[in-house]
Amino acid sequence: MPELFTWEFATDPYPAYAWLREHSPVHRTVLPSGVEAWLVTRYADARQALADQRLSKNPAHHAGTAHAKGRTGIPGERKAELMTHLLNIDPPDHTRLRRLVSKAFTPRTVAEFAPRVQELTDRLIDGFAAQGSADLIHDFAFPLPIYAICDLLGVPREDQDDFRDWAGMMIRHGGGPRGGVARSVKKMRAYLAELIHRKREEPGDDLISGLIRASDHGEHLTENEAAAMAFILLFAGFETTVNLIGNGMYALLRHPEQRERLQRALTEGDTRLLATGVEELLRYDGPVELATWRYATEPLNLGGRDIAAGDPVLVVLAAADRDPERFGDPDTLDLTRRDNQHLGYGHGIHYCLGAPLARLEGQTAIATLLRRLPDVRLAGDPADLRWRGGLIMRGLRTLPVEFTAETK
Ligand code: HEM
Repeated sequence: MPELFTWEFATDPYPAYAWLREHSPVHRTVLPSGVEAWLVTRYADARQALADQRLSKNPAHHAGTAHAKGRTGIPGERKAELMTHLLNIDPPDHTRLRRLVSKAFTPRTVAEFAPRVQELTDRLIDGFAAQGSADLIHDFAFPLPIYAICDLLGVPREDQDDFRDWAGMMIRHGGGPRGGVARSVKKMRAYLAELIHRKREEPGDDLISGLIRASDHGEHLTENEAAAMAFILLFAGFETTVNLIGNGMYALLRHPEQRERLQRALTEGDTRLLATGVEELLRYDGPVELATWRYATEPLNLGGRDIAAGDPVLVVLAAADRDPERFGDPDTLDLTRRDNQHLGYGHGIHYCLGAPLARLEGQTAIATLLRRLPDVRLAGDPADLRWRGGLIMRGLRTLPVEFTAETK
């Protein structure tokens, strides 16, 4: 049995997941936090679990106490007023809140956003293109989604660098509500409360104003629900996108023939490979390694194992998306893959709300990097790269690259 949650595992968890899929597909484990949970690694079981109404998202169903107190890994979530967000609630509240935010988060809004994402992408690349080297995480993947989400929410441009700092603190120090993280959450919470108040007085054309306006059969969003919604959009849409760009570029840089093929297609103006390619990058090494926590509300059987009421269940998306029962040649990166119903965005009622925005950002970022830095390559030895150790997300700490400097 391979060891889980070690440094080697963080670097390359896929051999351990292959072992689990084969020998213990629904596996009881003790997490580094000491909490016991079931890991679900086969595609068919994962899909079933993600859609199973007997698996609740409400931490109050956890038989232990850690989660009832809100220790589910999202910084600041323990703050009661930020906890009532989509990933912690079940129908009917989930249905009501999701419907409200979907109204404010339509595909049209996202499509209208394309020029702004392109402009942000180019501006960030302008910042390092003449240098001939960059850290693609710090200089590019990290700021892009923060500015994009701030724009979407309606955070004025002059305040967006504060958000960048607060989010940076949370992503660097993760989970616990200690010191700088706690201060950052507090500042963000206070800022959001103030912003919501301001948008009530002077509504704009943004998502927070949309949330305030939105009503569902006469039911309005409470102020706490609106703040929790803004907070979850920020968190669900931030580190995930950082890692889509980071893991995606890393995979491309390590598969030169795939990357050249994509570059050729883009030069010829063909964007089909970009679309299938970004989906494949999500399947191959996606940003969300494990789906967020679920808790059995009653005894149930999953993949032949008996799960007790109150047990936490973690669906390992990264393992399911490499299941040979579902994907041909699952360990091969194939940007042309068509039969690719990966679980990188989840499945069922909690399916990623921001998937259209994530696709837009991922495709714009990768296409623009390859166009503007055509000979971009890894700087240094891949063995020296470090992965963040968190449970839910999978992403690199840094991604140093070199390229021929752009001359104007
Ligand atoms: C590449 C980037 C992204 C990936 C891989 C991703 C992945 C996911 C996954 C796997 C889930 C389901 C979690 C579960 O069931 O436990 C989810 C939910 C969610 N995502 Fe994303 N996400 C991305 C980007 C975004 C963006 C940009 C936003 C919004 C700005 C966003 C907002 C959300 C929200 C609000 C939920 C909760 C939906 C619900 O519970 O109904 N995500 N995402």
